[in-house]
Parts: sequence; structure tokens; C-alpha cells
Amino acid sequence: MSAGLFVTGTDTGAGKTLVACALLKLLRRAGIDAVGFKPVATGVEDGKWLDVEALYAASAGAEPRERICPLRFAAPMAPVQAAKREGIELDMGPARRALAELASRHALVVAEGIGGLLVPLDERTLVIDFIKQSGFPALVVCKAQLGTVNHTLLTLRELDRAGVPVAAVIMNVTRAEDTENARPSVEEIERHTRHRIAATISFCVAPEIHQDELAAKAAEILGQQIQVSAWAGR
Ligand SMILES: Nc1ncnc2c1ncn2[C@@H]1O[C@H](COP(=O)(O)OP(=O)(O)OP(=O)(O)O)[C@@H](O)[C@H]1O
Ligand SMILES: [Mg+2]
Repeated sequence: MSAGLFVTGTDTGAGKTLVACALLKLLRRAGIDAVGFKPVATGVEDGKWLDVEALYAASAGAEPRERICPLRFAAPMAPVQAAKREGIELDMGPARRALAELASRHALVVAEGIGGLLVPLDERTLVIDFIKQSGFPALVVCKAQLGTVNHTLLTLRELDRAGVPVAAVIMNVTRAEDTENARPSVEEIERHTRHRIAATISFCVAPEIHQDELAAKAAEILGQQIQVSAWAGR
């Protein structure tokens, strides 16, 4: 299997899609054949799954949407429940095969998880199990709001416990009012774990900005703080 990164977060809405898309843009700009992946998406809007659309756009059409995300369910619910609504018992087998196939065809896969690490994906699989099975290191996106120190330390502890290497930890300010909480949280997290925060993404936009423009802005910010090419060819 080729190289990859698994973007996970401290919570839903932490900025996993944003960071995954920003990384894809940076990697592709560096001439690296990187493609996005999401094992399962829920919550269709006007016939589209927004995370899948974003990963598809950031992958510059390198793969069709159904390969970027093989399991898609309409209900805006947790994966197991959304599948059940459609009379389907969720099984991660097809997602594992889809990921292996993408990885065989591209230099690097940037995979996005679902919610946090312990979200159930099927009867036997939590997100962290899927990450571990992928063999990819995790990239942790921390939502910079109150509570992020606890959520980040729990996430890092669980990754360590499972033996999943951590490629990077990124602090992301998803709301303007969390700006002041970012720096002290970074310092506190670094005081209590061996992991460093590789980058901080500031709150960067007006609310009506297009998601692809937001990812471009995040790529600009990340590009000044991290060297993405180091992740290719692992
Ligand atoms: N730095 C930022 N500045 C402005 N808006 C942001 C920032 N980071 C994230 N957002 C916004 O916050 C929302 C959540 O971000 P995103 O969709 O990337 O999170 P996620 O972790 O992928 O969520 P999910 O669990 O639903 O997959 C999005 O509307 C995104 O545009
Ligand atoms: Mg997402």
C-alpha cells in the first residue's frame, strides 16, 4: 500500500474536511498525486454530500465521487443509524477495499474520518480501528473552543494506546470567538503530552465564503507552517 494520512478530529465540526482539502491542495501543488477519501458520509443536501464534494474538488477530479466515498447515506445521522434508516447493516469491508484500491493507484491518500475517534462504523469497527487497519498515521485536528485541551489529550492518549503514529496535530479556530483560546490551549496541550502542535489555523473567513476558497485560505496558512512533501513517499 502506498502512503497516506488519516485526518481525524477531536469532535465533529473540528475542521477535518477543511484541513484534508487544504493538505490535498498543498500536496497537489507540490506535484504529489494525492487523492481524498472518506469511508462513509451521511446527510445528503440537494443530492450532494458536502464533505465528498469538497474532497472531490480538492482532489482535482482525480477520482469519481463514489471512489472518494464508497458508502453514502441520506440521513444526517451517525453512520450506523443512517445506514439502518435505509435497511442496511453497515459493513466497512467495501470501504477498506476502496481505500486499498485508491492507495494502489495514487502516491498519497488523504483520508478523513467521521466525527471523533470512537464513532462506531460497524458492529466491530470504531473510527480508530479503521485508521489502525489503514496503516496510515493520524493527523489530529483540534477544535479551538473551550474543552479542546481535554478532547485533544483524550484523542492523543487513545491514538498512543492503539499504537497509531501521529503525523501532526493542528489547532483550528472554527469560530472567531475561540481565537483567544487557541494559544493557551496549545501551550497546555504541549505541557501534558509529548506531541507538538505543528500548526494553528486562524478563523479566516466571512460566513458566506465558498468552501473551496476557505480550503485555499487554509492551505495558504498551513503552507507557511508545515512541509507537506515530508508526508509523501513514507
Ligand atoms: N479556520 C476556519 N475558519 C472559518 N471557518 C472554519 C474554519 N475551520 C472550519 N470552519 C467551518 O466550520 C465548519 C466545520 O468544518 P469542517 O466541515 O471542516 O469540519 P469536520 O470536522 O470535517 O466536520 P464533520 O464532522 O461534519 O465532518 C465548516 O462550515 C467550515 O467551513
Ligand atoms: Mg467533514
